[in-house]
Amino acid sequence: MSLILGIETSCDETSAAVVRDGYQVLSNSVASQIAKHAVHGGVVPELAAREHLVALNPVLSDALNDAGVTMRDIDAVAVTNGPGLMPALLVGLNFAKGLAASHKLPLIGINHFIAHIYAAFLDDGAGRLEAPNSYPILALVVSGGHTSLLLIDDQGRARLIGYTIDDAAGEALDKAAKLLGLGYPGGPVMDKIATLGDARHFNFPRPLTGSAGKAVPDEHKFNFSFSGVKTSLLYHVARLSDNGHLEGPLLNDTVASYQEAVVDVLCRKTIAAAKEFRAASIVVCGGVACNSRLRTLIAEAIPKNTMLYLAQRKYCTDNAAMVAGLAWHFLKNNAVSDLGIDAFARLPMITQVPFVRIS
Ligand code: KG4
Ligand code: ZN
Repeated sequence: MSLILGIETSCDETSAAVVRDGYQVLSNSVASQIAKHAVHGGVVPELAAREHLVALNPVLSDALNDAGVTMRDIDAVAVTNGPGLMPALLVGLNFAKGLAASHKLPLIGINHFIAHIYAAFLDDGAGRLEAPNSYPILALVVSGGHTSLLLIDDQGRARLIGYTIDDAAGEALDKAAKLLGLGYPGGPVMDKIATLGDARHFNFPRPLTGSAGKAVPDEHKFNFSFSGVKTSLLYHVARLSDNGHLEGPLLNDTVASYQEAVVDVLCRKTIAAAKEFRAASIVVCGGVACNSRLRTLIAEAIPKNTMLYLAQRKYCTDNAAMVAGLAWHFLKNNAVSDLGIDAFARLPMITQVPFVRIS
């Protein structure tokens, strides 16, 4: 039995969690800095770093208390070391290094992108990862920083088959909300307002889907593009309002239609890729996977005989449980990090994931 303490500070959430043997989440404490960043309309990296510094100790105490353990019970410290905002990552990484060194524990650096995928298997997902008929797995990672499709085979080999060529889907929602004066972050507010509107009222573009009669170049078949939708919203608002402000049913229909364009593209590309690569299961994860409409749409469109592993909402947005859980697969193989490990800002090429359990 091993208990891993996870630390996550890659963006604007400070989180610590204790996970037993890779799956059983004993605690997952998350302190959000949303209110601090909202006044700036987005995440300010240096501000995030300072806030992590303040929040880490209380979040760690909560995680240990909620799990009913002390540092003496912990077997390893896992920490997100990238990709993410460099100043924010460094605070968590150095904190974790300090903990590991002072308690003489192994340190495990974790890739945040892979951790998001692993989030779909927390609590009760061991069986799904052990089942040969789960593979290949197609993962849609959709957050404020990523919109990617990763294909994973039964040996853990991974291949990026699609990614956004400009904005991430979460970014498209956040920027739209800012434009509409709905505050930050946009995803949750848009999700709520969209339920009040008619998603078919306005037709926002679905880039790289061929829906506008424009053929999709082969290299972009499974890629995404969201900057055009945002621009079309800008024109839409200018056309419908003199003061740049929409309200009432007009606002609700705009939000519903805009959100629909974003989630429709996510859903269509994921399903098309699943068919093309004969995926046995689809994982949907990352902050935008909280979105009610996306969850419904993908569940409706899933091909027969394909399984859908939607990450639980509490594990979609940034959290340390996914970090501590994933780390167990490294610890088992003694693949621990050096205390000198560095943080990295950008997503490296991913060719392997450590959590596939088929022998
Ligand atoms: O995974 P996450 O917490 O951080 C990153 O790694 O980026 O994702 C944050 C993103 C934000 O863009 C936020 O607007 C979006 O997830 N989000 C949502 C919802 N909840 C959070 N997007 C759509 N619907 C939601 N309910
Ligand atoms: Zn994230």
